[in-house]
Amino acid sequence: MCGIVGYVGNQECADLLVDGLRRLEYRGYDSAGLATLVRSDGEKRPIEVLRAVGKLGNLVAALRERPLKGTTGIGHTRWATHGRPTEVNAHPHVAGPIALVHNGIIENHLALKRELSAEGVKFSSDTDTEMVAHLIHREAKAGHELFVAVKRALAQVHGAYAVAVIDQRQPDRIVVAKNASPLVIGFGDGEMFAASDIPAVLPYTNRVLLLEDGEVGLLTADGIQVESLDGKKVEREPRTITWSAAQAEKGGFKHFMLKEIHEQPRAIEDTLRGRVDLANGDIIASEIGLDEATVAKVQRVYFIACGTSSHATLYGRQLVESLAGIPSQCELASEFVGRDPVIGPTDLVVAVSQSGETLDTLAALKVAKEKGAQLLAIANVIHSAIPRAAGAAFYTHAGPEIGVASTKCFTTQLAACLLLAVYLGRRNGKLSKEKAQELLQHTVELPHHMRATLALDDLVRDLARPLASSHSALFLGRGVSFPIAVEGALKLKEISYIHAEGYAAGEMKHGPIALIDANMPVIAVMPDDRSYEKIASNVQEARARDGVVIAIATRGNSEIGAIANKVIYVPKVDPLLSPFITSIPLQLLSYYVADFKGTDVDQPRNLAKTVTVE
Ligand code: F6R
Repeated sequence: MCGIVGYVGNQECADLLVDGLRRLEYRGYDSAGLATLVRSDGEKRPIEVLRAVGKLGNLVAALRERPLKGTTGIGHTRWATHGRPTEVNAHPHVAGPIALVHNGIIENHLALKRELSAEGVKFSSDTDTEMVAHLIHREAKAGHELFVAVKRALAQVHGAYAVAVIDQRQPDRIVVAKNASPLVIGFGDGEMFAASDIPAVLPYTNRVLLLEDGEVGLLTADGIQVESLDGKKVEREPRTITWSAAQAEKGGFKHFMLKEIHEQPRAIEDTLRGRVDLANGDIIASEIGLDEATVAKVQRVYFIACGTSSHATLYGRQLVESLAGIPSQCELASEFVGRDPVIGPTDLVVAVSQSGETLDTLAALKVAKEKGAQLLAIANVIHSAIPRAAGAAFYTHAGPEIGVASTKCFTTQLAACLLLAVYLGRRNGKLSKEKAQELLQHTVELPHHMRATLALDDLVRDLARPLASSHSALFLGRGVSFPIAVEGALKLKEISYIHAEGYAAGEMKHGPIALIDANMPVIAVMPDDRSYEKIASNVQEARARDGVVIAIATRGNSEIGAIANKVIYVPKVDPLLSPFITSIPLQLLSYYVADFKGTDVDQPRNLAKTVTVE
């Protein structure tokens, strides 16, 4: 997602800020900008701002036309969330003497906008960020110096943020703050740096301090003073980074895919943020992208997607049926366009695509549109072709995914499907407030359980080593674990080039059981739920034919150890939510098998991240 940089020192900083932004390019962006301040040339000068849509090259070209002077500055690469990727929506945002860059999502931006509008504030962008600039300006007008003004303003903000703020009144400083989004401070010699990630500061210093949630920092050329939002002093020493710049870009992980697997708790938090109304057991209507009149017409939900996204829809279908009692179907987009589907105005067609650009899905959506169906896109990339064609969008906010094999985009799609199903169930009365409250409470606790599951990394790695010499593998699941088994098989074949099949466990005896012998690893996804007894029988059948079974089972299961050859015990969660947990060991398994085999994990052969051919 967005990238932030900041500099205060004695060097002219515009080029330095651009260099930092370049090192954050991997986070993905669609516009960029800078703001600088001249510290002390005798006269007071206004903040200089430059912004450009598209790649950093456009900002550099604009800088050549109009160089920015100053030794204090902030910079930003924006990955659009609220408002299109245009120059007015690009950061920095300016309000009076204040300029600010922000990474994250301000949840109460609509309420803040109403409040500020009533005071006569005029807005120049569609962003949630601009509200924060105006809040700080309001505090500045009340006579507060920058550090105090930022603390007072942020106390009024709910949501995720990392911000860097400069103030024409005090050109020798930057104020930074963090809650949920990352912020790193770099310690130079007579100069200080701020950035969203370590690689941006690593060419200049390897002494860094990672700001914690709820902390605010006052940066001057001589150092940093850190406080909590409520003004308590924080004393923490910087630490020394020993990674190379290339390693640092991956946050110390060997591959982007592994980094993205580990980012999933944060990604799910971002998908849920500002959308779950626990008090009313509901989903915030303005977030779902559908109006009530449209929803009232819906008699069937049709999911269309490709590849990994289509596996997320298999879960979505089950949720829509069980939580909203609405008949639901899934279809591969490429098959949907190849026949004459019977759909019409009472169908809600949900196109699911992380890139938002997959041509097959776009073509299927157009067919649905021609037939008069209601449309919704679930996508990760803002304003991409599929959400634009659908006219209604629910964004997953997973952040950019660099690894070609999808991981965090998949689990955030599961979350989007879940929120959609709850929303539909609450609208038509099938889902009671109490049941929804309970499920949503369990949902917001998922990131915690996902973190605990990620701690199994080393164990999964050990189990993966012998699999690297296999020629084939069978993944089994039932109920909500069926989509996870199919997705597990796809991950393995994509990145390790080992043939794998994902099967509904009940189908094994109808054919695939013929494949089972001592050379066939069987991975059974079998958390505690209503399918458990049945899949346990399927596992026994595989063992009776010498199959080598690795089971993904719930912690506390006392019998599976005697049936399967190896067990990965995962935390217990609501049975409907187990896919968020069971996905993780399967992703790690594929990753480590591929890594042991030495394949190109992040860019597997023949595959592309965005598939724009039919
Ligand atoms: C596999 C993977 C692909 C995509 C598929 C659709 O890891 O990522 O199977 O899911 O190409 O792409 P999107 O979701 O962008 O429509």
